[in-house]
Amino acid sequence: MKILRTPKELQAYRKDLRGSVGFVPTMGALHKGHLSLIEKSVAQNDHTIVSIFVNPTQFLPGEDFEKYPRRYEADKKICELAGVDALFMPEASAIYEKDEVLIKAPSQKGYVLEGHFRPGHFDGVLQVVNKLLHLANPHRAYFGKKDAQQLFLIQKMVREFFMDTQIVPCEIVRDDDGLALSSRNLYLSPEERQKALLIPKSLKRAAKLIQSGVIKTSSLKEQMLQILRPLKVEYVEIVDRKFDAIDDIRIGDSIILVAAYVGQTRLIDNIWI
Ligand code: PAF
Repeated sequence: MKILRTPKELQAYRKDLRGSVGFVPTMGALHKGHLSLIEKSVAQNDHTIVSIFVNPTQFLPGEDFEKYPRRYEADKKICELAGVDALFMPEASAIYEKDEVLIKAPSQKGYVLEGHFRPGHFDGVLQVVNKLLHLANPHRAYFGKKDAQQLFLIQKMVREFFMDTQIVPCEIVRDDDGLALSSRNLYLSPEERQKALLIPKSLKRAAKLIQSGVIKTSSLKEQMLQILRPLKVEYVEIVDRKFDAIDDIRIGDSIILVAAYVGQTRLIDNIWI
């Protein structure tokens, strides 16, 4: 597996590749969720490139940029064993200049839900994903459905900028207890982890209610909020696949989203209905 440190090295490596290229952008601290993206890419492409870059521009002041887990040696091993061909691990100084040309997330869909509680977060995500896609120039790029709004905005950017990469959405991976895998789960104490299980529990409850015929999103949200009461909930929202809020569930076109703090740790989760 090649380790590439600079955009120039990645571009030179990419230029010599023949056949299809899959790309998995990550911020590292790789878990089974990331691994499922990597495995999909390895299965679907001749070459797989993974990036590990804790992108400073997508963290707001006071967020967890400094303490975000960095596990570069373990991550390298995981990638190597999974059959990754090249790992791109740049320094921030190699990615960003001063007084950059900026990408701005759309003023509506980029500033609701996650974008409302983390204003500017998606500007940073789109800025870095745009750069990474230009550098890796992949046929396919893999993103998890757990970051549903991020996935939606990246698909939108790729379409609107006429970029030639297929965005492949990947299913959420959960631990046996139901908690969606996230690098931030590492922050949770055992007690907090138990409390965090209320999030998947609330989503499961909503899915059950829908199965039994409840389609009013206001009723579903109310029931979920009951379950989530011990947590500091930022939002429970139900949207369609275009991220417009909806009054009634439409099977095949709805996403139920939760963001909540467990102690100091902010977690998000969702289910696609
Ligand atoms: O989902 C992530 O890990 C990050 O937001 C991404 C897409 C790698 C951009 O930094």
